[in-house]
Amino acid sequence: MQLKNIKGKTNWIRGGTNTGVYIFEDRTVLLIDTGIGGDRQEKIINILEEQKLKVRYIINTHEHEDHSGGNYQIKEYFKDVKVYSSHKAKIYIENPDIYMDFITGGRRTQKLVDEMGKYIFKEAKVDYIIEPGDELEIKGHIFKIIDCSGHTEGSIGVVTDDGILFLGDLMISRNSLDKFDFLFMCDYESQIRSLDNLRNIDFEYSVLGHSSGIFTKRETLEIANYNYDTLMRLIEFVLNQLEEPRDFDEIIKAFLDHKKLRCNYIAYLEYRNSLNATIAYLLDAGVIKYILDDNILKYVLSDETLIESGSMFCKI
Ligand SMILES: [Fe+2]
Repeated sequence: MQLKNIKGKTNWIRGGTNTGVYIFEDRTVLLIDTGIGGDRQEKIINILEEQKLKVRYIINTHEHEDHSGGNYQIKEYFKDVKVYSSHKAKIYIENPDIYMDFITGGRRTQKLVDEMGKYIFKEAKVDYIIEPGDELEIKGHIFKIIDCSGHTEGSIGVVTDDGILFLGDLMISRNSLDKFDFLFMCDYESQIRSLDNLRNIDFEYSVLGHSSGIFTKRETLEIANYNYDTLMRLIEFVLNQLEEPRDFDEIIKAFLDHKKLRCNYIAYLEYRNSLNATIAYLLDAGVIKYILDDNILKYVLSDETLIESGSMFCKI
């Protein structure tokens, strides 16, 4: 791991999760996503100490433990550190138990608590709320906050005054899509809207939460299109499944079989979460309906639905 300059005062530390490092004139630092808790944070602290840099601010793009799990260690080490996130992300960052209840779909299990505990060192308080459209000013520099909702409801992106856009997990790289052809998300409609909105944002380069490189705006929009196509294929897949009534477990099994995926307990919950976002979108749009068949909740195409093309339901 090393600190690399992107442009001007904007740097990054590559890793399992990428961390943005904005260095102010007085050698204080804003981190964008700390990453998982544990050894990674000790490495980040060493890298910054070597350069005589002190963290004073953290922005979390969203609540996931691989983006905010290290907040506590950074706050403990550098002391006077202020954390910023959206309101919805703050709820989960400060209350991992609520986040785990959400993932479980009810009361969290000890299995999930144990797994998450590997990545969240200890929950840390979020000091300030920032929302899309805000222009956060720190030491005379402006950080534009953009809407990246979809992956989570409160996901945000950050554009530094060097024109570098940090996207969190709004989208994943082409390499990852070629392997999985799937996006983890909580809100299908927001995901589409956030991807589409990228073309309206002024930036020179982008950094994804998980990728080995940075991207020009043109490359970023190409990746966004690639992600968009994946979402369209997901809608088509679900609609094809629902020509006959199916319960949720049947839909998940069909999906996992189709992708030739063997998943573990946690991954199953996460896949279920994303498929549920797709089902919820189609249900709210009236494209599908639910029925209770002998006390089994099933989904099926609504009577009005015409299945000429999956994309017809996703106009934005
Ligand atoms: Fe995430």
